Amino acid sequence: MPSHRSAAASLLAVWLCLGVALLGVGAAPLRPSSSCQRDCGGVDIPYPFGIVDSPGDSSSDCAMPGFGLTCHETDVNGGRRTPFYYDVEVVDVSLQQGQARMQNHISSYCYNATTQGMDASEWRLNFTGTPYRFADTNKFTVIGCQTLAYIMGEQAGDYTSGCVAMCQRGGYGDVRSALSNGSCSGIGCCQTAIPRGLDYYRVSFDSGFNTTEIHDVSPCSYAVLMDDSDFTFQASYATLPGFNNTFDGEAPLAVDWVVGEESCDVARKDPSSYACLGDHSECFDSLNGPGYICNCSKGFQGNPYLQDPEHGCKDINECTDLEKYPCNVPGTCQNFLGGFQCHCPKHTKGDAQNGTCEANHTFGLGEKLGIGAFGVVLVGLVCILAVEIIRHKRSIKRQALIRQSDEYFQQHGGQILSEMMGVERNIGFTVYARGAIEAATNGFDKENIIGEGGQGTVYKAVLDVEGKDTLVAVKRCKEVDESKRKDFVQELVILGRVDHPNIVKLLGCCLQFEVPILVYEYVQNKTLLELLHSQLTSCRAMLGTRLRIAAQAAGALAYLHSLAHPILHGDVKPANILLGDGWVAKVSDFGCSTIDEKTQVVARGTPGYVDPEYLLEYQLTDKNDIYSFGILLLELLTGKKPLSKQRKSLAAIVQESMGDGTLHQLFDQEIVDDASIGVAVQAVELATRCLVMPGNRRPAMRCIAEELQQLADQVQQPLVSECHSLTIKDMESSMSSETDTTRVFSLEKKVVLSIEFAR
Ligand SMILES: *[C@@H]1O[C@H](CO)[C@@H](O)[C@H](O)[C@H]1NC(C)=O
Ligand SMILES: *[C@@H]1O[C@H](CO)[C@@H](O)[C@H](O)[C@H]1NC(C)=O
Ligand SMILES: *[C@@H]1O[C@H](CO)[C@@H](O)[C@H](O)[C@H]1NC(C)=O
Ligand SMILES: *[C@@H]1O[C@H](CO)[C@@H](O)[C@H](O)[C@H]1NC(C)=O
Ligand SMILES: *[C@@H]1O[C@H](CO)[C@@H](O)[C@H](O)[C@H]1NC(C)=O
Ligand SMILES: *[C@@H]1O[C@H](CO)[C@@H](O)[C@H](O)[C@H]1NC(C)=O
Ligand SMILES: *[C@@H]1O[C@H](CO)[C@@H](O)[C@H](O)[C@H]1NC(C)=O
Ligand SMILES: *[C@@H]1O[C@H](CO)[C@@H](O)[C@H](O)[C@H]1NC(C)=O
Repeated sequence: MPSHRSAAASLLAVWLCLGVALLGVGAAPLRPSSSCQRDCGGVDIPYPFGIVDSPGDSSSDCAMPGFGLTCHETDVNGGRRTPFYYDVEVVDVSLQQGQARMQNHISSYCYNATTQGMDASEWRLNFTGTPYRFADTNKFTVIGCQTLAYIMGEQAGDYTSGCVAMCQRGGYGDVRSALSNGSCSGIGCCQTAIPRGLDYYRVSFDSGFNTTEIHDVSPCSYAVLMDDSDFTFQASYATLPGFNNTFDGEAPLAVDWVVGEESCDVARKDPSSYACLGDHSECFDSLNGPGYICNCSKGFQGNPYLQDPEHGCKDINECTDLEKYPCNVPGTCQNFLGGFQCHCPKHTKGDAQNGTCEANHTFGLGEKLGIGAFGVVLVGLVCILAVEIIRHKRSIKRQALIRQSDEYFQQHGGQILSEMMGVERNIGFTVYARGAIEAATNGFDKENIIGEGGQGTVYKAVLDVEGKDTLVAVKRCKEVDESKRKDFVQELVILGRVDHPNIVKLLGCCLQFEVPILVYEYVQNKTLLELLHSQLTSCRAMLGTRLRIAAQAAGALAYLHSLAHPILHGDVKPANILLGDGWVAKVSDFGCSTIDEKTQVVARGTPGYVDPEYLLEYQLTDKNDIYSFGILLLELLTGKKPLSKQRKSLAAIVQESMGDGTLHQLFDQEIVDDASIGVAVQAVELATRCLVMPGNRRPAMRCIAEELQQLADQVQQPLVSECHSLTIKDMESSMSSETDTTRVFSLEKKVVLSIEFAR
């Protein structure tokens, strides 16, 4: 069921789920019959794709399972026949790139003059269990003048992102005057990138942002995942007639596909399902999630998924296509398997491919003798010269790499860093060489990945830290804003100096890659997010522990805010609070983040935690961190996510229940007992003070930290984590197992306390 719309107002069920053919069930590759239809409305349908009777049909030998398309007429295309994957129109299929292009429905959120309310038409596209996933050239594109739209995936860790499009900061006025063609940077239009491997997405508009007040100029907001290369913002998209009408309700989407879910190495071992057939078909691991695609080897062309001599990978006869394969001396081109040769005609020499053959001077006998001696000397000289040239070329190659590293180093402000470090010795900050980072991460091997976030990818590695081999976390930042590189380095030096027990220590960096690499202290345990919402661990932290973790995180943020050159975090959320040994809170995820916060118009931070004031002003202040922290505190106390499935914010839910006196029902019953409920209520009150508008009426982080510490001290509960729901057998086995961990059993409460339980 690839595409689905949930219309809040009209409740239109557009498509019923028919079930999706699962991939690679060990079926032997079928040879498609020659009677299969290979064209639909002018679109080429090469195998593994094929036209079938119904899209879920996996019995047809015209298509590989999952690649069946239907070919039928629609009113939308004026009766033209078009290929479809379920209800998604397929525009193009490319075998060489493993890509396809489809038409994706545009979601809209419109003011309805009849009902004077908002009508939502929110689409989703589900490719889970199919060969398809969204290419990373797509961007989640949002159009509107008063819009906050979310994109939600169902990937590991519940991916959610989104952005805000406004026409005038805070006010309305004439929205048209603010719009300009070509620029999608928050005014009338905003975009966010998507992570690799995403195969499901759903759109949701935030009801807090609606077009009621500007409906006469801009009645609708739109959101769609679409190929960025097909998008240039036009002022008319945000106003009437609107984006949807211009694109006729559907925008082009780039889709990557794979023929199997395993890697090439694994796939090759099973010849019965390996899809790259023939001697000249090669396997390539997909760059977008698991799986592989095939391609003809260099010098061959055809369909790498077929073996027959007619359709499979065939040698290219380059000599018949001199335009593409230049050989400017016709008649001398020679084709061979996998390539071709292009000679200069007899008695000439040079480069035949670009037609630089020159006459080969031949000489009479006398002349030959005459110049013989000279020739010997000349040959000798030429040989020496040749050897030198080869040597020189090799060293150029070697130096090119070094030079490129150096360029990156300069671009990232390496010079400034060196100077600053020269001034301030002993800041305990190491600048690592490219080679050291490459060796330690095994060339950024996927095996070593321990985390992937909005800021970049984190690898586990062992590096030299002040003379000792130490386990560290190496973060490879995503692309950084060019104009902010200088600030970035200054921030690095400041961060390198930060030494706080509740902040993940920045140990060093490497600036010799195209993106900055940061080296952090390695924190063994999980994040606060996992503690709060993971079903995997049987451990639950009680109120006292939670308040202590909150107090520590608040202390760390207060420290950062109080520096002479204050550091703003900008993305406070449970996933960014690591828990070290003994569940000590460690605030993480700076570094990459500090660079782009001020210039980024598109909302930085995470939906649900972002301060609405930041969304309006685009200017990060310490009050934004305090807002996010307030949401985090509510999440800690209630165990609820900041945005419910119904798009209701946790802050609003808490506010309501405080109003009607049902607050106590909101607490996570397993962590708050009768004795501690008073403290929990005080903590909620503190959290709501962090959320007040305007932001300058919020308490300072330092006061919040102190108050939280006092509240934590009042709770008469054990301070370490508690692991519930263990059977007696579990308890026995953990008692008998020989570990060096201190374990305390409190049998009457049937809870096991342990410091190192949740690994
Ligand atoms: C497949 O081969 C073609 C032609 O050699 C090339 O243009 C294309 O990039 C290759 N695709 C991949 C995924 O390597
Ligand atoms: C507005 O809402 C009414 C009642 O739900 C509906 O019949 C009508 O089609 C809507 N108008 C538009 C323009 O969507
Ligand atoms: C639209 O937003 C305004 C505040 O800007 C709010 O008062 C109103 O209830 C919202 N309307 C809908 C239909 O959500
Ligand atoms: C997407 O489709 C797959 C396969 O039909 C299904 O298992 C999964 O639950 C769907 N995901 C969502 C979020 O609907
Ligand atoms: C934007 O471009 C359209 C045509 O492409 C033009 O009619 C319009 O005047 C332009 N608007 C602005 C604000 O430049
Ligand atoms: C968007 O365009 C499609 C196709 O033209 C149409 O069916 C749909 O009603 C439009 N939606 C809005 C909100 O205009
Ligand atoms: C140039 O001419 C000489 C003498 O005929 C011949 O030996 C040599 O191979 C020719 N070189 C090329 C590149 O044709
Ligand atoms: C001729 O082609 C070679 C590569 O085949 C290239 O290195 C050389 O620069 C070209 N010469 C000219 C004059 O284009």
